Amino acid sequence: MNILILGSGGREHALAWATLQNPKCDKLIVAPGNAGIAQIAECATLNIEDGAAVTEFCAENSIDLVIIGPEAPLAAGVADTLRDAGFATFGPSAAAARLEASKSFTKEICDAANAPTAAYGHFTDADAAKAHVRGQGAPIVIKADGLAAGKGVIIAETVDQACAAIDDMFGGAFGQAGAEVVIEEFMTGEEASFFILVDGETCLPIGTAQDHKRVGEGDTGPNTGGMGAYSPAPVLTDEIAQIAMDQIIRPTMAEMARRGMPYQGVLYAGLMIENGLPRLVEYNVRFGDPECQVLMLRLGAQALDLMQACAEGRLTEARVTWADDHAMTVVLAAQGYPGSYEKGSEIKGLDKLPEDSFHMTFHAGTKAKDGKITATGGRVLNATARGATLAEARDRAYALVDGIDWPEGFCRRDIGWRAL
Ligand code: AMP
Ligand code: GLY
Repeated sequence: MNILILGSGGREHALAWATLQNPKCDKLIVAPGNAGIAQIAECATLNIEDGAAVTEFCAENSIDLVIIGPEAPLAAGVADTLRDAGFATFGPSAAAARLEASKSFTKEICDAANAPTAAYGHFTDADAAKAHVRGQGAPIVIKADGLAAGKGVIIAETVDQACAAIDDMFGGAFGQAGAEVVIEEFMTGEEASFFILVDGETCLPIGTAQDHKRVGEGDTGPNTGGMGAYSPAPVLTDEIAQIAMDQIIRPTMAEMARRGMPYQGVLYAGLMIENGLPRLVEYNVRFGDPECQVLMLRLGAQALDLMQACAEGRLTEARVTWADDHAMTVVLAAQGYPGSYEKGSEIKGLDKLPEDSFHMTFHAGTKAKDGKITATGGRVLNATARGATLAEARDRAYALVDGIDWPEGFCRRDIGWRAL
């Protein structure tokens, strides 16, 4: 079959790598891709948020399955346009993608489905929001309602901080995303990411992972898109995963279907686990990045069968086979990230790294020019490895890191510390 993957990050490199492990894949095109993806697949220039352009491209290239990586094309309705034109598509409709694009929408679905999550209030003006904060006290969580590239969440330690965050949001610090604000109870516990395929009706859990959002070792410093991840997440035991399926995932997916917006694609549930009980922190409507990298290394070739079954509404027939293994990915980022950073520095040593089903260095923000690989983004590479134990996966991932010659980059040296 001919497959098109949309996106350009480490997530999409991992999706492309797993897709190519499956002999079913005859041809793979990634748009727009990056320098690492270009080493394994054809890359195409395409405006991936333009549904009509993507549909035309699929018709011209006889595409059988489209896998949508990032949230922006989903929120823009690219999956709707593709499905309307008859293309099997892995990724939810714009209506269903509101589970990520609007926090108040998700809270309302949780209420209707009786799914455990933080208590909340939803506000469209600053005075009412501040009165709510004064009534609740701190710590308290202030969230811009819309998509804010992972930056729209402020955990306020004091009422004054909370009020300042409310002023910032209504003052336009997050643009249109902050025109409405959700204020949540601060939940304590341990966070983990749970990934479930949903084909509109059937929900199939495919794995767990834990991300490291803070830039600094020991989980310090500002939030990032994620500095490393490992899978499985031991805190999300089979028993807790079952509770999450029964109390959170299935009821909310049934509520989406009941409202005429059945969910189709991968659902990424951020869970807070305390005293053996999970509560929903947030939904994302795509694979996590870098969580996808560890999931793909563990799933290998079956990832394509699963995504295809999901896109074709056949998940009742699908099974996931888990090896008793562990994977870790370490993000290499440009110095300065998540603040301002230089672009264009050269990365050496990549061609000498092992690449097999135990080791893959996925590219996130790279470009190839004149035979050199240069850094083009904040998060640049994902050194990813698999082993019989998490410690073995870690040692292999850091051995990859140590083989990369890039003085302008840095990584956290403590990925996996909670589980190790
Ligand atoms: P979100 O963008 O909703 O994932 O929020 C980013 C991060 O903020 C989450 O991964 C949590 O670490 C934290 N967070 C969000 N909501 C809450 C909450 N209600 N209680 C505690 N921490 C939260
Ligand atoms: N790694 C967090 C995310 O993809 O949202």
